[in-house]
Amino acid sequence: MDKFVIHGGKKLSGGIKINGAKNASLALMPATLLANGKSVLHNTPELNDIFTMLKLLNHLGAEYSFENHKLELDTSNITSQDAPYEHVKKMRASVYVLGPLLARYGNAKVSLPGGCAWGPRPINLHLEGLKKMGADIELTEGYIVAKAKKLKGAKINLDISSVGATGNLLMAATLANGITVINNAAKEPEISNLASFLLKMGAQIEGIGTSTITIQGVDNLYNSEIDTIPDRIEAGTMLIAGAITGGNIRMSGIKSNFLDSVILKLENSGCKIIKNNNIIELNASKGSIIPTDITTSIFPGYPTDMQAQWIAYMSLADGVSTVTDNIYLDRFSHVPELVRLGANISVRENSALIKGTTKLKGAKVMSTDLRASASLVLAGLAAEGTTEVLRVYHLDRGYQRIEEKLKALGADIERVQGSEY
Ligand code: EPU
Repeated sequence: MDKFVIHGGKKLSGGIKINGAKNASLALMPATLLANGKSVLHNTPELNDIFTMLKLLNHLGAEYSFENHKLELDTSNITSQDAPYEHVKKMRASVYVLGPLLARYGNAKVSLPGGCAWGPRPINLHLEGLKKMGADIELTEGYIVAKAKKLKGAKINLDISSVGATGNLLMAATLANGITVINNAAKEPEISNLASFLLKMGAQIEGIGTSTITIQGVDNLYNSEIDTIPDRIEAGTMLIAGAITGGNIRMSGIKSNFLDSVILKLENSGCKIIKNNNIIELNASKGSIIPTDITTSIFPGYPTDMQAQWIAYMSLADGVSTVTDNIYLDRFSHVPELVRLGANISVRENSALIKGTTKLKGAKVMSTDLRASASLVLAGLAAEGTTEVLRVYHLDRGYQRIEEKLKALGADIERVQGSEY
């Protein structure tokens, strides 16, 4: 387990390129199970979560080559429809294999993902939707055992606009008999990227990017290729790295409309932002952060995956702000660690009240999950003295060598390899 040692206080400036989106890749990869043969996923990020999904797909019989962000997946020899606990426990997104396996092979056995660091995170909507499509689903010995000779089209109204349920049901519906309508579907760009890939594979889908997606099932899908969209959460995290250090960041390869809500909040907090042809430029001035409240919501609202980073930023604002998470009500494990750095934050129900301080001071802090870790790195970049962020394997799940990007912008950050951190 590696750690980061950060000597804070450096103003970040310069240009960076944003990688492909983890959460798009994690849906695109299992979608290849819907066809026979070799598919190509361009711009795939080299992240631990991607390697976890690769291991799972490989366990099912898929072969792959992965070089320079080009991922080729060959599904010609799928030999198993069984996603065991060892794989699924590492990453909840493994449950994305359920829909494609069931649709293509008529059966799937997928471990239940269990709890997560910030709450139960159920998958009832995935299962209810598949049942509506005629699947016979049993929960036994920690596994979802699903069977359906042929799924059939259905009208599915999601109680919550769930990203994962939309992705799973969308994939399943492509090979069902008849028409499926998913109401209150997720509009996140990662779902649109998945739907675009399915279209290229021969699926018939309407309403991509809207809350009603209609799928006319087809008999077969064919392998294809797609560009993975850029990672809006990596981009947002790097923008806050610029903002919290009073720096100037220019990033390329990212569509600004993926980040409208974050950009608006950064502007409200005093940053100047220029958007131009897939380039975003942020200019911040040190020591004058205007307190700015956020409330997370589904796309295009402010993303829950940028909540922890915003709390770190607001810890240094000139006054009081509140951050409310409406997607994951308990996602605040970063708060006690930020308090160790001198932040003044209290949490009540699903809101954090942040009283801005003039400075944070370096300390040892512990990563607890991916975005929590990102917030600790951001705080460390702005803190006086030395911050050690332990257990950065959480960060490696979702940010590809973040320390190298930050270093290129002028941060004083080192990865220290070791087992005891
Ligand atoms: N929910 C249910 N039942 C379900 C599914 C979801 O009650 O069957 C609830 C969840 O508990 C949550 C809300 O619905 O309160 C939204 O969950 P959603 O299903 O949209 O989340 P997810 O698909 O499990 C994806 C991302 C997360 C991101 C959320 C929200 C992937 C692989 N993961 O998760 O990303 O936070 O959408 O945008 O796409 C991350 O990257 O750090 C991360 C956690």
